[in-house]
Amino acid sequence: MALYQATTSAPVNIAVIKYWGKRDTKLILPTNSSLSVTLDQDDLKATTTSQTDPSFSKDRLWLNGVEEEIKPGSRLATCFEEMRRLRRKVEQSQGEPAISQWFIHVASFNNFPTAAGLASSAAGFAALVSSIAALYKLPNSPSELSLIARQGSGSACRSLFGGFVAWQAGTATDGLDSYAVEVAPREHWPEISAVICVVSDHKKGTSSTAGMQRTVETSTLLQHRIKEVVPQRMTNITKAIKDRDFDTFARITMADSNSFHAVALDTEPPIFYMNDVSRAIVNLIVEYNRASTAAGGPLKAAYTYDAGPNAVIYALKEHIPEIVNLVSHYFPQAESARSPLGAEPLPAGFNANIIVKHDVGAVKNLILTRVGDGPRVLGAEASLLDKTGLPL
Ligand code: DP6
Repeated sequence: MALYQATTSAPVNIAVIKYWGKRDTKLILPTNSSLSVTLDQDDLKATTTSQTDPSFSKDRLWLNGVEEEIKPGSRLATCFEEMRRLRRKVEQSQGEPAISQWFIHVASFNNFPTAAGLASSAAGFAALVSSIAALYKLPNSPSELSLIARQGSGSACRSLFGGFVAWQAGTATDGLDSYAVEVAPREHWPEISAVICVVSDHKKGTSSTAGMQRTVETSTLLQHRIKEVVPQRMTNITKAIKDRDFDTFARITMADSNSFHAVALDTEPPIFYMNDVSRAIVNLIVEYNRASTAAGGPLKAAYTYDAGPNAVIYALKEHIPEIVNLVSHYFPQAESARSPLGAEPLPAGFNANIIVKHDVGAVKNLILTRVGDGPRVLGAEASLLDKTGLPL
C-alpha cells in the first residue's frame, strides 16, 4: 500500500498579552495583537498523524481515540480545505502527484488531560496543520501555516513557533496580515519557566469563543483595551523579552491578565473565570514579589490566567523551587500529586498571615515546565494510525 503519512507534535502556548475579541468570527481575525510563551513539549503536547490514500471514502478525525464529526463549514473543515489549496499549488507548479484530491485520516492525542482545563485546542490545531504540512511536503513557512491554524482556533496560530511568539492582529479584511511571528527563540531566554496550578472547578465555564464575542458586543472597556492599552504593552513586552528584563516582563504579564479579566467582568452579563483559589494565588504572588522588592530584590514571579481558574506562574528557573514550596504550603496537594521539591521555610520577609492555608486539593496538582520549541516532525514509529488508516 502506498502510504502517504506524517506525524508531528505541537506545543501549548500561554499568552502574556491576551487575545480576547474577534473583528471577523469566520476568518478568526482578532481585535488586538497578542503575545505568548510556548511551553515545552516534553511536558505538554498534542501529537497528530495524518494519512492520505485513494482508498479513503471521506475525511475522518479521531481525538484521543474518539471519532469527531467534521461538519461542513466548520473550523476543522476550513483547515482541511486550506491545506489542500496549498498542496494544489505545489502540484501545479512542481508537478508533484495529485494527492490533494484524496481524503485524509487524522488521529490526534494530547499527553495532558483535557479535564485539567488546559487549553488543548491551540496545540491540537497547530499539530493538525503541521502534520498535514509534513504529509503534503509543503514549502510554507511557520508564519504562512499560522494563517491556517488561526482559522482553527485563534490562539493556535502562536503554537507554530517555539520561544516567544506574537500574533499580529493585522488590518486586512481577508486576514492575510494576521499571522504569528517569532519574537525570540527559546534559546534566547531558556531560563523562563512556568508552574501551572491546576485549580479545582466544578462549574462549566463560558467558552473562550462565546465569551469573547459577548465582550465585543457589550463591553465599553474592551475598546479602551484595544486602542490604548495593548499596543503599548506589545511594544514594551517585546523589548523586555529582547532585553531579558524579567521585571518588566512580569509587570506587563500580570497587568494584562488583570486587564483581560476586567473586560470579562465588564461583559453583559459579566463573566468570571477566576475563582477564590485563583485570587488567593494572585495574593500569594503579590506578597512574594513585595517581600523580595522590599529587601531590594527583583520581581520573582508573574501570574497569568486564561478563560478558567488555573494559574500559570512564569518565573526564572532559579526561583522555581521557592515558588513550588510556597504554593504547596498554602495549597497542599494530595500525597500522590505532590511535587518532589521540598518543604522549605517561607522566603525571608514573607508575611505568612496574608493568605490562609487552603484545604488539600484546592490546587489539584502542579505542572512544572519551561519555554519550549515549535512543532516537531516525528518518525514513523510515533504514528497514531495503522496501515489501513485506523487509530492504533
Ligand atoms: C484567554 O483561541 O481558544 O486563552 O479563537 O475562538 O478558538 P477561538 O478562541 P481561543 O481563545 C484564547 C483566549 C485566551 C487568551 C489567549 O490565548 O491569548
